[in-house]
Amino acid sequence: MRIDIVTIFPDYLAPLELSLVGKARSEGLIEIGVHDLRDAATDRHRSVDDEPYGGGPGMVMSPQPWGDLLDPLVTDSTLLVVPSPSGRRFDQVTAQDWSQREHLVIACGRYEGIDSRVMAHYAQRCEVAEVGIGDYVLAGGEVAALVIVEAVTRLLPGVVGNARSVIEDSFAPGEMEGLVEGPVFTRPPVWRDQAVPEVLLSGNHAEIARWRHEQALARTQRMRPDLVGPDVNAPEAQE
Ligand code: ADE
Repeated sequence: MRIDIVTIFPDYLAPLELSLVGKARSEGLIEIGVHDLRDAATDRHRSVDDEPYGGGPGMVMSPQPWGDLLDPLVTDSTLLVVPSPSGRRFDQVTAQDWSQREHLVIACGRYEGIDSRVMAHYAQRCEVAEVGIGDYVLAGGEVAALVIVEAVTRLLPGVVGNARSVIEDSFAPGEMEGLVEGPVFTRPPVWRDQAVPEVLLSGNHAEIARWRHEQALARTQRMRPDLVGPDVNAPEAQE
């Protein structure tokens, strides 16, 4: 898989040389290119934005540098990803889906966003997905790009050493779909008067799997009732 990221702050993407994604790149499991949008500007100030038509605060990113930079990158099999707080929510199912694509281009907007004609134009040439990573407004798409690249990369074959850990992730399609993971423990068996739940020391794998699933369900009900609905057995629900 290849991912191209277009930004006015290439240095913002430096963390993609570290850790899991950095290792996947050096092992050739993924190729990542970072492109400076200002390289496609045509004036001596390398400007990439202008005032919004119709007035209002802030600046809008001009279509010309985007078009000039994206034209050689985009093919008909590209998925053009545009991070935006007004996009559809990026989630684990989306990450799974995108991990099967051969080419993503992530267009990081800044200011009030990218002139809408850019997305409309490329929607005729390839698939375009505007996605938000949460209901808050960031200063630009770069942090969202880091989130998307990491979530997608760890799903590529060979990136995470133990394939089971990807299968058992929170939200992973299958057993964990719509659930967050429950608590985890390691040695020592007692720490500051707190013992590890006995079932985890039992060696009974069926019991352990059942316990983990119950814990995941209980934690999801507590932390993310929006995912499963309220717990009908909880004391406050019985009043
Ligand atoms: N750009 C600004 N805010 C964003 C968000 N919440 N998600 C994705 N891209 C963004």
